Amino acid sequence: MSLAQRRILLGVSGGIAAYKSCELVRRLRDLGAEVRVVMTEGATHFVSATTFQALSGQPVRTSLWDAEAEAAMGHIELARWAERIIIAPASADLLARLAHGMANDLLTTVCLASAAPVYVAPAMNQQMWAHPAVQANIDTLRQRGVHLLGPASGDQACGDIGSGRMLEPLELREAIVASFGKPVLRGLKVVVSAGPTYEDIDPVRFIGNRSSGRMGFAVAEAAAQAGAEVTLVAGPVSLATPPGIARRVDVRSAVQMRDAVLAATPQADIYIGAAAVGDYRPAEVADHKLKKHDGAALELHLTENPDILATLAAQTVRPFLVGFAAETHDVARYARDKLQRKGLDMIAANQVGSGLGFEADDNALNLYWADGAAELARTSKTELARQLVTQVAERYRAVRG
Ligand code: PMT
Repeated sequence: MSLAQRRILLGVSGGIAAYKSCELVRRLRDLGAEVRVVMTEGATHFVSATTFQALSGQPVRTSLWDAEAEAAMGHIELARWAERIIIAPASADLLARLAHGMANDLLTTVCLASAAPVYVAPAMNQQMWAHPAVQANIDTLRQRGVHLLGPASGDQACGDIGSGRMLEPLELREAIVASFGKPVLRGLKVVVSAGPTYEDIDPVRFIGNRSSGRMGFAVAEAAAQAGAEVTLVAGPVSLATPPGIARRVDVRSAVQMRDAVLAATPQADIYIGAAAVGDYRPAEVADHKLKKHDGAALELHLTENPDILATLAAQTVRPFLVGFAAETHDVARYARDKLQRKGLDMIAANQVGSGLGFEADDNALNLYWADGAAELARTSKTELARQLVTQVAERYRAVRG
């Protein structure tokens, strides 16, 4: 593990867990990282800036109104300098201000001004963590691509037991190390499809599915972290483009997705189809809103969509093909069948329903290829995507050298 020459901005907000962040600075520096610390006013009530200054070996910033630093636009310089921003502990107040795009102190201002991926490690009382207002802010932040680290469950400083403890410094460091990824896909071009497709019925209605795009976006991000040049073909989702993605193409229907994928794949080494592509579309799209007719049934004639993976598999020169399979039962049997029928190099099967697969934060995957299989246990889609990318890289090298 190395963080040599990596530039990490540690934001510390007000909470008793701030004392653990002192240890985090040491552990990050042990691996060679350069660490600069920004504290909120609240944080200074728990740990002094002098402590962080001694541990980081750098001046610590606590205010947006530091005349000397701001004479040289210090907050912009810090925002550009950071390769990763980790906020630990992230208090309920800090999360709310981040979620609402506020810039009323140095830390929130730097987060708005920076293109660096932001990681938050919440720490608060379990009742506060469970509060719908806090959870709504977390959802907003996640949708904007902020990475959530923890919180853990257990004894709390206030005497409660429950979810809301900040992760331990070594766990936080591990996440930061992992965020840089091993460059297992360096030099390769990867196309990833993500999200649902919408098949229009008329100007106001469509046939869609429940894919949020999170799994595919996580795969695209993990591939970029692994050094690939990534083109992300996204169905209609409301997710921010993950950091490091070379190109994003937004589409709506299966036919548009097919066209975008076919345009991107001639140069690609690997295609990963995480999108939930609609199998059928209305044979005709009405140009006006369809009206009800006194209880009479509405008949929709559906026509089959092109199969993107099968189209790619039929090409003589084609990328290494990784499909997904979303199944509600008999996962292994259906997945192996799709692997063979669609002519894929690998398939990642997930059971959907019961809090897994569609829309959920977590997922689990079973991977199959012609002469092997691997099981990736339930974890966050971000972590799962990293594991998947490692496996894809291994299989790619085995088959294509
Ligand atoms: O987006 P999330 O909310 O995070 O949910 C993630 C997910 C459940 C959507 C994802 O993990 C997943 O399983 N994606 C594939 C869903 C799917 O459409 O499975 P399928 O069994 O219908 O299709 C099999 C494979 O063929 C998929 O790789 C699909 O992209 C591809 N396909 C399907 C139809 C079609 N016309 N063309 C295709 O290429």
